[in-house]
Amino acid sequence: MNLADLNKVAQAMVVPGKGILAADESSGTITKRFDAIGVTSTEDSRRDYREMLFRSTEAMTKYISGVILYDETIWQNAKDGTPLIKLIEQAGAIPGIKVDEGTQPLPACPGERVTVGLDRLAERLKRYYERGARFAKWRAVIDINARGIPSMTAVGVNAHALGRYAALCQAAQIVPIVEPEVLMDGDHDIDRCLEVTTRVLNVTFQELRKQRVALEGMILKPNMAISGKTCAKQASVQDVAEKTVRMLKACVPAAVPGIAFLSGGQSDEEATAHLDAMNRIGNLPWKLTFSYGRALQAAPQKAWAGKAANVAAGQQAFSHRAHMNSLASKGEWKADLEKKAA
Ligand code: 13P
Repeated sequence: MNLADLNKVAQAMVVPGKGILAADESSGTITKRFDAIGVTSTEDSRRDYREMLFRSTEAMTKYISGVILYDETIWQNAKDGTPLIKLIEQAGAIPGIKVDEGTQPLPACPGERVTVGLDRLAERLKRYYERGARFAKWRAVIDINARGIPSMTAVGVNAHALGRYAALCQAAQIVPIVEPEVLMDGDHDIDRCLEVTTRVLNVTFQELRKQRVALEGMILKPNMAISGKTCAKQASVQDVAEKTVRMLKACVPAAVPGIAFLSGGQSDEEATAHLDAMNRIGNLPWKLTFSYGRALQAAPQKAWAGKAANVAAGQQAFSHRAHMNSLASKGEWKADLEKKAA
């Protein structure tokens, strides 16, 4: 492992004004997104859609530091035969790869899940590195939408897997994005989310240390401290920002170069406003940016709707969201910039 080089990649992923496009939906998940816009999900339509994103010159060169790909995409070529991964590199962004293989029910823990994919991970990482991937992602999912969960068992096994994954990535000279996601589903309030996320982050960092992961060569991808989706009392933007920053300061060592949030079901504008408010607090030991999936792609998906004639509109919608989040990563976003564009 060359830690100086891992650190260089990690720093580039969170450089001020840029963030990560999470375009690593599994074929099942992207099919759900396509169903919502009336597009049939095929290898070709998935390729066309992602090619549209990666050829969005403004977004990709100015606002996007890296792209997380799904296995299918990393081996796919654009219509003209150029590997999709090359389009990302040509724009000056870093290609990354989702390496977890989804979740399975956790035995003896009703309703809870564990993320799998460690078997043969070392060999897969080698192939992804050769193809050009310089970072990876593994998502652990913690549900809090029922009494008695999460169990310490679920938190423990998921954190252990994140540690195993991160150590294997660094051995393969790939920067791990460590993603423990506490879901927004449910009517819990922000303080319940804050309490569980604190516990999950603490156990995760214990595992990372135990398994000798170099903190300077990783990126954390957490959820924000935020109200459950169906909670009657939704916390304000300022509340989310202050509680999230306080939580991260208590849990995330300053050696970690950056924190890139998931959007987790927040609306596009909420995800941007929250990131902006956190960066306005300032004086933080790590960079805070975005690694959004839905909050970057909902608008371009709608504008595109599977039609070649709409490619420019889709790219414009993507560039706008990427621009807004770029400003938020510097604490320079303003709500009226959204209205002007509308
Ligand atoms: P969302 O921003 O849609 O939550 O997706 C980010 C991601 O990569 C989830 O693993």
